[in-house]
Amino acid sequence: MSDALAGLHAIVGSKGLLTDPAEMAAYGIDWRKLFPGLPLAVVRPFSTAEVSAIMALCHQHQIAVVPQGGNTGMAGGAVPDTSGRELVLSLGRMNRLRGIDPVGMTLEAEAGVVLQTAQEAAIAVNRLLPISLAAEGSATIGGVIATNAGGVNVLRYGMTRAMVLGLEVVLPDGRVVDGLRRLRKDHAGYDWKQIFIGTEGTLGLVTAAVLRLMPKPSQRLTALVSVPDPQAALDFLVVAQDALGDTISAFELISGFSLGLVHRHFGLSCPVAEGQWYVLIDAGASLSGLREAMEAAFEQAFGQGCVLDGTIAESVQQASDLWMLRERITESEAKESKSVKHDVSIPIPSIPQFLVEAGHALERHAPGTRVNCFGHLGDGNLHYNVLIDGHDPRDINKIVHDVVDRFGGSISAEHGIGQYRVSELALRRSEPEQALSRLIKTAIDPMDLMNPGKVLPRRETR
Ligand code: FAD
Ligand code: MLT
Ligand code: ZN
Repeated sequence: MSDALAGLHAIVGSKGLLTDPAEMAAYGIDWRKLFPGLPLAVVRPFSTAEVSAIMALCHQHQIAVVPQGGNTGMAGGAVPDTSGRELVLSLGRMNRLRGIDPVGMTLEAEAGVVLQTAQEAAIAVNRLLPISLAAEGSATIGGVIATNAGGVNVLRYGMTRAMVLGLEVVLPDGRVVDGLRRLRKDHAGYDWKQIFIGTEGTLGLVTAAVLRLMPKPSQRLTALVSVPDPQAALDFLVVAQDALGDTISAFELISGFSLGLVHRHFGLSCPVAEGQWYVLIDAGASLSGLREAMEAAFEQAFGQGCVLDGTIAESVQQASDLWMLRERITESEAKESKSVKHDVSIPIPSIPQFLVEAGHALERHAPGTRVNCFGHLGDGNLHYNVLIDGHDPRDINKIVHDVVDRFGGSISAEHGIGQYRVSELALRRSEPEQALSRLIKTAIDPMDLMNPGKVLPRRETR
């Protein structure tokens, strides 16, 4: 093994290689502190050529590699196991924005560029990179691509996949595949980049990407309303979509419980009269009439009784204060208790009934647990997180996912499988679907060196 470490040192130098346990500690554990691992070493390349050389060396020595970006993933995908034999490859030093083109509306960035940095670069040329999530100050371009991250703007702009025009990847044997094209349309052969998007570093390393930018709406409106129940929230979604069309970028459901947590742990108060449920809505447009359309939607929703109270932000500061109520939920939950997270997708019209049935199932099988439910209602994606307060977490996934299955839903809408959901996925996907996934994995990574045990079981147990 020391041969391999010497080889890594020769590639990246002292600055790029960490072997001191204290220096490696932060790379060995996930954001949720659920999966403490032990890296063989942490390698921090500076260029695609270095990544390529590292991968070739690891291939030769059969060393497993765990890619890591901002380490904000929710499913334990970016950390090694406890064997001390897996190498963490951190993309953090590959953080150059290679270019931005406001005419072609593209941005080219290395994998380690922080999402917020890329967003700000787009804003500076009056364009929008619409991928947006609460972890954007730390999550990286490589990480959001590898997880096909969702976030709060999917309703209008789609998941990260929809923003990726070109990709550069390094394969498990070190070969570099350069597909950094800036084209809107490119139907020449297989669109191979798709298999590296959302596969959580199990097939190769994303080293750089060309992302698509959107026009930046010149006006933006943010509003928070209280609604009597989830069905009313859906009724309001219909009213809002009729009135505001595709100007709506976010339509977020927030439970009163979630806002209670944010108040307790961050002291933030909700400016809207008490309700059991809330909706945060964001819309943007460059033509006039947005405010009038939003007010008309409110009026109609009040008349129908699906909205109880509400406020439209009157300034950028007020809009950001409303968003802070939403963005602080995850951190508040982490401060409150250990939780079992569910990142589920449900056909949108079934969401109210899903909530009723999941609630009953928990009362019956896990009495005393509390549910922190919020999420991207406009996308049919709920974060149905169960605070276990000392209860045994083992059966909670099964209780909730069984209900998800009954509604034809998915056990991961946006966070991915990582190591957190490997066994649940294996239980819930058909054999032909699993066989196809194994075929892809074996074709590209026959030795199971890329992030083993994530998404799919390890090779020896498959
Ligand atoms: P990491 O956590 O470092 O890695 C995630 C996965 O990608 C791992 O499997 C890793 O091996 C792989 N990977 C990382 N970089 C590369 C690379 N260059 N090449 C190949 N594989 C790679 N997610 C959402 O989808 N929507 C949300 O709304 C959302 N909100 C969040 C809010 C908070 C407060 C937090 C902490 C997280 C949230 N997340 C959300 C989860 C997380 O931020 C995203 O999954 C994000 O895309 C991860 O980016 P990262 O750079 O931190 O990746
Ligand atoms: C979010 O939407 O804020 C995250 O995806 C959520 C989570 O904590 O589950
Ligand atoms: Zn989310």
